[in-house]
Amino acid sequence: MKILVINGPNLNLLDSRDPDHYGGNSLENISELLKIKFPLVQFIFEQFNGEDEIVDSIHKSSNYDGIIINPAAFTHYSISIRDALEICKLPKVEVHLSNITNREKFRSVNITSSKCDGLISGFKSYSYVLAVHYLIDIIKIV
Ligand code: DQA
Repeated sequence: MKILVINGPNLNLLDSRDPDHYGGNSLENISELLKIKFPLVQFIFEQFNGEDEIVDSIHKSSNYDGIIINPAAFTHYSISIRDALEICKLPKVEVHLSNITNREKFRSVNITSSKCDGLISGFKSYSYVLAVHYLIDIIKIV
C-alpha cells in the first residue's frame, strides 16, 4: 500500500511553531512515527509552500492508494486545492495537528475538507496516525 502524505506551507518549520497547537514534533519526526507504526505501508512524504505545487502533486497521485493532506493555511481559502481534491478519486483524509475549530475564527472556515472522505483535527502528530488507520481499513490491501 502506497500513501501520499502532502503537507502545506510552513509545516517545514513545524518544530519551531507553537508546541501548544502543533505538538513540537518536526515533519521528519511524524514521517518516522508513521514508518514505525505502519511498517508495511509505503509513505511518500511531501511538503510544499506553494499552492500550485500542492495542486500538481494531487494531479500526479494516480499511482497511490490514498492521500493524507494537511493543506495548512490553504485549508481556509484555496479553491484550486479544493477543486484538485474534487477531481482526485482516491480515498483522501484531511488532517490538522491543531484543533482548527477552537482557534481564531478564520481557521474554522474550511473549504477543502468537504472534498475529502473526512477530517481529523486536533490530535497533533496522532491526527496523521488516525488517518492511516482509516485508509488501511478502507483500502484493505496491505
Ligand atoms: C494547521 C492549521 C492551519 O490553520 C495552520 O495555518 C497551519 C497548520 C494544523 O495542522 O493545525 O499551518 O493545518
